[in-house]
Amino acid sequence: MRIAVTGVTGQVGWELVRSLQPLGEVVALDSRALDLADPARVRAVLREVAPQVIVNPAAYTAVDKAESETGKARAINAAAPAAMAGYCVDAGALLVHYSTDYVFDGSRDGRYREDDPTAPANAYGLTKLEGEQAIRTSGCAHLILRTSWVYSLRGGNFLRTMVRLAAARDHLKIVADQYGVPTPASFIADVTAQLIARRQASAALKDWSGVLNLTPAGRTSWFEYASRGLALLHRATQAGTEGRLPATSSASPGPEWQVPRMPSLEAIPASAYPTPARRPANSCLDLSRIENVWGMSMPSWDGLLATVLRDA
Ligand SMILES: NC(=O)c1ccc[n+]([C@@H]2O[C@H](COP(=O)([O-])OP(=O)(O)OC[C@H]3O[C@@H](n4cnc5c(N)ncnc54)[C@H](OP(=O)(O)O)[C@@H]3O)[C@@H](O)[C@H]2O)c1
Repeated sequence: MRIAVTGVTGQVGWELVRSLQPLGEVVALDSRALDLADPARVRAVLREVAPQVIVNPAAYTAVDKAESETGKARAINAAAPAAMAGYCVDAGALLVHYSTDYVFDGSRDGRYREDDPTAPANAYGLTKLEGEQAIRTSGCAHLILRTSWVYSLRGGNFLRTMVRLAAARDHLKIVADQYGVPTPASFIADVTAQLIARRQASAALKDWSGVLNLTPAGRTSWFEYASRGLALLHRATQAGTEGRLPATSSASPGPEWQVPRMPSLEAIPASAYPTPARRPANSCLDLSRIENVWGMSMPSWDGLLATVLRDA
């Protein structure tokens, strides 16, 4: 089976190139090989590569910039996935695509199920929703995996920003009234490989197409997430300095993940931190479908955070 992966320099794409290896021949397509800002070319490039599966984590992910660059975000997040779906219809291929918790406005208290009404609060969320809709209406075989608050040890993400700020400041103000679920890119990639394998192996799932929520279990705020992450890294940095590393860690955190001094943290409301794009107050996704239909068990976000940071 030939699997084309886009966005291989990104957080999820990087991990997918590793996790998909046991499933077949992985063709890694960076933005030079396949520029999604030029959707008209997408189908032709894919015909040349001729994959049986496309896994598409490439996206315009700059949430605030998407407010002013909506046309570019729409080309990459909606028109390009539509072109991929067109290839998949012609070739009988499977499209695995990623979407976001930001297709919801975050106004409800509970968790969002896959078929709850969408209402994006910002331009990024709107263009991602348009991508989902184009894939669904194309009729191609697809898995649309909605995830949230993605992080990894490489690439840009909230946690990395917190570590950088902790090195420069004694005091950090962090939003405490927006709730969601931090999701490691490596976890997304490993679950994706499992889903593709299960879809192939199971008679009940082989024709399954639709949207699936994919995050760890539990929920947190940006404030609690930063507090836990910085505390874990601070402890590991101190242990490394004092030469008493925990048995679960092979080395002290690398220079870019060291937190030698714990800053004081102040919980603030989102209203005190205005950004160009509005963010949902609650974007926790319900996990019943992936657990009950696909037989996966989602671990808690904080355990995964500790596991990922062992390798920092
Ligand atoms: N990050 C989050 O917090 C988050 C939350 C919810 C959902 N998601 C979704 O999860 C998926 C993976 O996100 P991520 O965090 O891994 O993203 P990321 O780290 O920002 O990586 C984005 C990737 O897309 C590629 N890309 C951007 N413009 C492109 C273009 N014109 N043509 C081809 N490739 C292009 C980038 O390549 P270059 O390096 O060459 O630009 C990069 O490899 C995306 O669908 C995203 O919408 C992310």
